Amino acid sequence: MSSAGPRATVRFVDQSLEVEVELGGTILGAAKRCGAPEGDACGGVCACSTCHVYVDEGGELLSEPSEGEEDVLDKAFDVRLGSRLGCQARIERPGTLVVRISNESLDAFYNEHPNVPRPPR
Ligand code: FES
Repeated sequence: MSSAGPRATVRFVDQSLEVEVELGGTILGAAKRCGAPEGDACGGVCACSTCHVYVDEGGELLSEPSEGEEDVLDKAFDVRLGSRLGCQARIERPGTLVVRISNESLDAFYNEHPNVPRPPR
């Protein structure tokens, strides 16, 4: 049985991974569902920046960043336009998001999962 609610597609473009998710979840949740290598050292409680991603398209589908998210992003590496914390950016509207995982986040993921081979860059 498939659920009938509106959905969004999240594309992790560097990994060629794509997943359809129900609204209300986070980018980090979408990454976990499709096996995209996004770090989450603090467990998704807005206390690190290892879930840092760049939202290239579809940023308007996401919740506004909270003050807490902005404070953590201030300390992240290589922050750009479109930077979000994957554990905090909630997908609120249907559509397609194009996301790239930051190097900081990739490093965190592969450090946390030493048994997952890291593809060459
Ligand atoms: S996982 Fe730590 S801030 Fe998102």
